[in-house]
Amino acid sequence: MMKDLKISQDIHWIGKIDDRAVPFHRLTLAKGTTYNSYLLKTEKPTVIDTVDIDYGREFVEHLSQLIDPEEIAYIVINHTEPDHSGGLAALAARATNATIVCTEIAVPELQEMYKLHHRNFLIVRDGDQLDIGGKTLYFRETPYLHTEETMITYCEEDKILFPCDIFSTHVAAYNIFNDEANEDITEDYIFYYTAIMHPHRRYVRAMMNVVKDLDIQMIAPSHGYILRKDVQKFIDLYGTMSHDTVQDKKVTIIYTTIKGNTRKISNLLANIMTENNIEATIFNVDKVEKAEVLASIQEADAVLIGSSTRYADMIGNLEEILKDLKEMNLEGKLAAAFGSYGWSGESIEVIQDYLNETNMTVLSTSHVIKTTGMTHVEFPVRIRFAPKGDSLKKIEHAGAFIADLLLSSL
Ligand SMILES: Cc1cc2nc3c(=O)[nH]c(=O)nc-3n(C[C@H](O)[C@H](O)[C@H](O)COP(=O)(O)O)c2cc1C
Ligand SMILES: [Fe+2]
Ligand SMILES: [Fe+2]
Repeated sequence: MMKDLKISQDIHWIGKIDDRAVPFHRLTLAKGTTYNSYLLKTEKPTVIDTVDIDYGREFVEHLSQLIDPEEIAYIVINHTEPDHSGGLAALAARATNATIVCTEIAVPELQEMYKLHHRNFLIVRDGDQLDIGGKTLYFRETPYLHTEETMITYCEEDKILFPCDIFSTHVAAYNIFNDEANEDITEDYIFYYTAIMHPHRRYVRAMMNVVKDLDIQMIAPSHGYILRKDVQKFIDLYGTMSHDTVQDKKVTIIYTTIKGNTRKISNLLANIMTENNIEATIFNVDKVEKAEVLASIQEADAVLIGSSTRYADMIGNLEEILKDLKEMNLEGKLAAAFGSYGWSGESIEVIQDYLNETNMTVLSTSHVIKTTGMTHVEFPVRIRFAPKGDSLKKIEHAGAFIADLLLSSL
């Protein structure tokens, strides 16, 4: 029988300590980690998150010592990544009466991964509450912390926040409460934030606005230490670390256009930079001297280059500038291609090719996925005809990504 570890009177820790050097997100977690799962033994017993997919069966065995799985009413899945949802297949097989509680985006992910198409799902939206018989759970969406479908769960009666990946540490913590840890955990906490959360710090800032309205006495995350001492200090650290501390960044945006659509994209990108206190200079390459454009590029921290497509090619004088870039030392700068097009948008791809021949860091969808796991930010920025509707979102996401990279301080 495993030791029954309670975090409050009727909330049990039912997680798994993984003290291997765990390979994760192209890192090796030298200190291991834990997958924290919680059983709330109320009138409608509820499990919040599960464990890594490797430990699903063991998890259900452990849980069965505390409750008959058939009695479980709800399984809350805050985040679908299999280091937390991985025990769901084994649990759902035994907890046949349980409804799975998650965000709308999470439903197909869980259904596909664990073959749960025939199970009951309860989709919760930002701000929804759920009465679990003696306790009330309150859900807030926290997109991209760590992936798009993510939410956090707050237990109103116990004032405990279950934020899944957020406020976690990657430590195989045998003394799971931070006040019982053998060492100061701050360094581990900062390491985790830097590796997992910082690339998404725009969303961390949004989340800080959500948690500031909650009275949080304890944070029960899904990796590492449960925080019950200095709780506000640990929350505030996320606030501090997610602030942009870098200043005086400059972006040069150059474009050519037939009817003005690519100019509109340029202006939208420039506005996003300005909103983020980044200086943006825009050039229509057909209206200024090449030397002026090149001088601005040399000064810039990021260079965004756009053209629409006319008969499968770029227009205006842009190619002259692109040829010169290859010969310049542009190391350390970011670059991105964009443009309006009708059906094929060849010139956007040709700009991308030219940029790839410079020594700038050229943004691509592949680069974004590899560095952040995000799939909603696309480079080059390809906009069909005039920017409107969904394509405005594309520009916003791309601009915000560039701004965040430029202002990154860690
Ligand atoms: C003469 C002409 C040729 C075009 N050729 C192409 C083309 O080869 N491939 C494509 O994707 N779009 C093509 N388009 C569509 C434009 O790229 C599209 O209308 C774009 O929104 C124009 O953006 P702009 O206002 O920035 O120039 C063509 C448009 C015109 C007027
Ligand atoms: Fe995650
Ligand atoms: Fe995780």
